[in-house]
Amino acid sequence: MCGIVGYIGDRQATEICLAGLKRLEYRGYDSAGIAIVRDGELEVMKVVGKLAGLAEALEENPLEGTLGIGHTRWATHGKPSKVNSHPHTSMDGRIALVHNGIIENYAELRDQLESEGFEFVSQTDTEVIVHLVDKYYEGDLAAAFRRAVKDLHGAFALGIVSADHPDQMIAARRFSPLVLGIGEGENFIVSDMGAVREWTDQVYVIDDDEMAVITRDSIELTDLEGNPIEREPYTIPWPADAAQKGGHKHFMHKEIHEQPRAMRECLLGRLGAPEKSINLEGLNLTEDEIRGLRKVVFTACGTAYHAGLVGRFLMEKLARIPAECDLAAELRARDPVVLDNTLAIIVSQSGETADTLVALREFKEKGAKVISVVNVVDSSIARESDGVVYIQAGPEIGVASTKAYTLQILTISLIAAHFADVRGAASEHELIELRRAMLGLPEQAQILLDREEDVKRVAARFFESPNALYLGRGVNLPSAMEGALKLKEISYIHAEGYSAGEMKHGPIALVEPSLFTVAIAIKGDVYDKMIGNIQEIKARSGPVIGVAFDGDTEIPRQADEVLWVPESPEMITPITVAIPLQILAYHIADMLDREIDQPRNLAKTVTVE
Ligand code: AGP
Repeated sequence: MCGIVGYIGDRQATEICLAGLKRLEYRGYDSAGIAIVRDGELEVMKVVGKLAGLAEALEENPLEGTLGIGHTRWATHGKPSKVNSHPHTSMDGRIALVHNGIIENYAELRDQLESEGFEFVSQTDTEVIVHLVDKYYEGDLAAAFRRAVKDLHGAFALGIVSADHPDQMIAARRFSPLVLGIGEGENFIVSDMGAVREWTDQVYVIDDDEMAVITRDSIELTDLEGNPIEREPYTIPWPADAAQKGGHKHFMHKEIHEQPRAMRECLLGRLGAPEKSINLEGLNLTEDEIRGLRKVVFTACGTAYHAGLVGRFLMEKLARIPAECDLAAELRARDPVVLDNTLAIIVSQSGETADTLVALREFKEKGAKVISVVNVVDSSIARESDGVVYIQAGPEIGVASTKAYTLQILTISLIAAHFADVRGAASEHELIELRRAMLGLPEQAQILLDREEDVKRVAARFFESPNALYLGRGVNLPSAMEGALKLKEISYIHAEGYSAGEMKHGPIALVEPSLFTVAIAIKGDVYDKMIGNIQEIKARSGPVIGVAFDGDTEIPRQADEVLWVPESPEMITPITVAIPLQILAYHIADMLDREIDQPRNLAKTVTVE
């Protein structure tokens, strides 16, 4: 999605904005721009394409000044073009504004403004905002901004500067993320904490329908009526370099390798020993509420949805609570019936995915208790939930979600095991074994990472295949779906994740030598059936990559290649199985020389419906 950076201080705003926008590149964009205020003038530079083009243009025509705003645009209204890129300016060129989100009533606002003589130069929804501010401006920028924002329906994170106010930058948000960086004699606005961490670890996360008037020495938070808001600064918990690649070729590779540490951090303070019960601070559910639950519904998008599918399985298998998992984007269309004592579990890495946030609000409106499993602290989904269990993954920059996925499942496993314990749905022995297995995951993850070269060899054998099929059953059907998503979103190879039991109902028609199949055949309830599926594919000359427990002697006989995972209780194998499939997708995409951290057409956070 779009990226926003604003700066007011005594350093060159151009440098700060460019550096901040660079750290927001992962969000995906197609154009970029910057506006600088100096000596009573406002200057704007915009380009179509990458930030390097903007930096080059600024080299040739430097914009000097210590107040400025910058933007990277991911087109929603109006094609990628210079005129549609941000910042957008008022007709007299004195006010500049950047925006992330979608203004749903922009068409009627535009008609109204045009009827009042305002001339538009772009096809964007954003341009209506800067003309509205201009319309209401009578010398007080904050007052004009406040009035303008109240006319807006939809989602926005906004930054605005004016040539007539060289000591002021204004920001506001509804639905789209925005963070205020607190410096010494300087302050920042950014789309997320990773963009500002190099300069400060002190930030304000502003809430929906709040705004800030920012000077070099102050940040005044208010609501849209201008009422002051008191808020404690938040300290960003990770070091400045955490948002950088740390020697890895791609953020995705770094994040795959961060999983053992991240799993330890996710377990820390929650699960101390197999014999100890699980402590989930932030869950905000009493034991009586847990015992009274009649249904659990997971909802999410993309990879988080796959984690939700695993969660549904665990919630039924472990806690014996009826459970469902719905695609967030489909939920509203379904107008679900929500019974009393229903718990909705919202899964989201960013905590800002629009479809997921809408689903959360749907469940709240229908009376469900809502908890969320989220990575980004204080994100919109986290703040609108009744309880939050953070996955503690640290910043995930690569568009393809890896460590967040395994930690979402681990966090959901902790919740399901806790529910099973409170409801007496599992024996003490079963719970001890499950907790022991969870505590062993960081070590198993490291073992899997140490096998990277073996997986890379398998990738080298299949990276030129045009199609792939990923098959799984039971708790590892979501693993097949996730493995396919990982491959398709970074390598652009068409890959489908499918129930192996469904093969004979259609997909088997696809099998031929050019299509490789990944078959997840770990020992458990569905093992024999998976062997049957592998044989069906081999009989039709389809190459098969099996995923099997260490020491399995049958799968190497049946499959062409094997990705080995350490033995563990079947219920937590979606976590271990995910890692070799992440590595396989990564190396196939790397061999195809893909833009792995920013795949085409994709954004890290989809903040539009
Ligand atoms: C996963 O690799 C994709 N980047 C995408 O499917 C992502 O999982 C989805 O957009 C949900 O994002 P969220 O977890 O931030 O809500």
